[in-house]
Amino acid sequence: MKEKLQKIRENAIAQIESSDGLAKLNEVRTTILGKKGELTAVLKGMKEVAPEDRPKVGQWVNETREAIENCLEEKKTKLEAEALRLKYESEKIDVTMPAEKHLTGNLHPMTQVKNQLVDIFGSMGFEVYEGTEIETDHYNFTALNTPQDHPARDMQDTFYLSPEYLLRTQTSAGQIHVMENKKPPIKIISPGKVFRSDDDATHSPMFSQMEGLVVDKGINLCDLKGILDVFVKKIFGENTVTRLRPSYFPFTEPSVEVDVSCFQCGGKGCKLCKGTGWIEVLGAGIVNTKVLEGCGIDTNEYSGFAFGIGIERIAMLKYGINNIKLLFESDLRVLEQIDD
Ligand code: DAH
Repeated sequence: MKEKLQKIRENAIAQIESSDGLAKLNEVRTTILGKKGELTAVLKGMKEVAPEDRPKVGQWVNETREAIENCLEEKKTKLEAEALRLKYESEKIDVTMPAEKHLTGNLHPMTQVKNQLVDIFGSMGFEVYEGTEIETDHYNFTALNTPQDHPARDMQDTFYLSPEYLLRTQTSAGQIHVMENKKPPIKIISPGKVFRSDDDATHSPMFSQMEGLVVDKGINLCDLKGILDVFVKKIFGENTVTRLRPSYFPFTEPSVEVDVSCFQCGGKGCKLCKGTGWIEVLGAGIVNTKVLEGCGIDTNEYSGFAFGIGIERIAMLKYGINNIKLLFESDLRVLEQIDD
């Protein structure tokens, strides 16, 4: 019997020693000490042992059990320590590693320019009026002194939704809504999308404009020039100035085309300004009295100026972009470079 127990003990210790994990060790514990374990079998067989030998055999069994339990406990402590060491090892942080780079987003160049325009004119007291992209022929054309068959309609290729409704071709349509709903003094800007059937390197069927309208007593072209000078200095640099050239728009009289002195060459002439020293930036003028009267504004008392800025054009000039499509393609290589 003593030999048998010795065998069980040696066998158990060998199994314990070779256990390579806590789960395996638990398995070993059950096979040896569990209900169906070898040691339990010996205890169960005690009835066959002669009564006078039972205390002695009992003591051997207990010693064997104790030795195995001690061994199990020791191994458990070792395996736990090892598991902890491996855990710490795997969680070790190398503080000398360079930090992971995270991309930071920024606003789209068009949004940046629009926000800048709104800030500049907002600081001069202009309120923002947001018009609608779907307009009637009346607001987009007729009320702006461009009735049916007016040759100026050919200047803008229009997407009609029905004979009456269209996608607005110009934010100027908003002028009429404002003047119909508000008495002078009026001082608004109206940024938004406009649509024309037009598509090349500098034109897109959908683009953005920002309209400006001031109506008050005694408004003249000098007021317009003063405001636009502030605008170009803030957008293109302190050293830039504006120049007004005669032009034609049905809703303004007189009408002007506004140039900014070239911010790249300072007016000497370069590729950007095509050697002229000037860059065309927007259309403007004194609001045609027919337009004011159509909105019920007394032209003996009030006059106004209006202007229309192409926002893509400003963004392209400001950031040196030569194809309008780059502003609509969401190419990160382009967008990442523009963060004002
Ligand atoms: N609506 C014109 C266009 O889209 C731009 C424009 C010119 C607007 C003169 C104005 C203006 O308010 O006075 O071509």
